[in-house]
Amino acid sequence: MSIVSPSPEIIAEAARFLRGGDLVAFPTETVYGLGGDATQDSAVEKIYAAKGRPSLNPLIVHVGGREWVAGIAEPDGRFDKLARVFWPGPLTLVMRRRADSPISKIVSAGRDTVAVRMPDHPVARDILLAVKRPLAAPSANTSGKVSPTRAEHVHDGLIHPPRLVIDGGACRVGLESTVLDLTQHIPVILRPGSISREQLEAAIGEVREGLDDATAPKAPGALLSHYAPGLPLRLNAANPEPGECFIGFGPVSGAYNLSPAGNLDEAAANLFALLRQADNLNLYKAIAVAPVPQTGIGVAINDRLRRAAAPRNTG
Ligand code: TXA
Ligand code: MG
Repeated sequence: MSIVSPSPEIIAEAARFLRGGDLVAFPTETVYGLGGDATQDSAVEKIYAAKGRPSLNPLIVHVGGREWVAGIAEPDGRFDKLARVFWPGPLTLVMRRRADSPISKIVSAGRDTVAVRMPDHPVARDILLAVKRPLAAPSANTSGKVSPTRAEHVHDGLIHPPRLVIDGGACRVGLESTVLDLTQHIPVILRPGSISREQLEAAIGEVREGLDDATAPKAPGALLSHYAPGLPLRLNAANPEPGECFIGFGPVSGAYNLSPAGNLDEAAANLFALLRQADNLNLYKAIAVAPVPQTGIGVAINDRLRRAAAPRNTG
């Protein structure tokens, strides 16, 4: 697997690999995606195999323009409003599949819906426009682990390496997109992200909070382990206990800090890289994270932290 810098030649090569059914990892504004042609069953199967992803957890389809959606799904007036305000950007919209949708049914994992987003990153956009096909692209990590926010994170995160990893530097947002289910009468947030409920409500009216993962148990308080570092994680920690790596937030002393200035956007961008770093030092027996305010993107940061700290799935 080679990590390469983007250039017109590399984009063209990536497009050839993708049209041929191979996988390419590329940067988006949220996290690195493991991309494959969403219209080819065999390419989509490769994505599930490379991640060890349960086949019941559907994938996000990435498009190069708003107008691509009409051929894939059944967008309504709420889609038009949201796409106008938030696309390109970190908002994924779940809609009914068109009966003649060219998207592989494996992408939807047996559902009659499809999740679509238009990424706000020049490399992702250039690849989509070169391939001219929608790309399925989950985060480029093994299922349940910490998502990659740098090209070099992709390297240690997959069961089968992709043909290419395109290096776009550090991801600007650092947390996965907000996922909004538009198939409900009142839209439901399935996964919080940097686009908040308040922002969505300003565009389309009432929105509800739901549960993240399509495979998550629907019981209140039930948490599915996800985004998990190797070490156990302790949340809302004021200080480290002996043997713990402390990750601070705001003006506290210590080597690791999500944002010394207490800026939530900066904290989101640093979160996964810091968890990964603490894990890889082999110096600690656990990680302790300071409290993060539950406002704006802090809601999404705390969602990821709770899942990272949840009892681990076995296997
Ligand atoms: O920011 C992101 O969204 C990143 C970058 C690479 O674009 N992608 C990403 O994809 O996080 P993935 O596959 O790791 O996360 C997909 C999420 C899961 O929570 C999945 O359950 C949900 O979206 N999802 C996908 N299709 C769905 C559908 N048809 N119905 C309900 N949930 C769906
Ligand atoms: Mg993921």
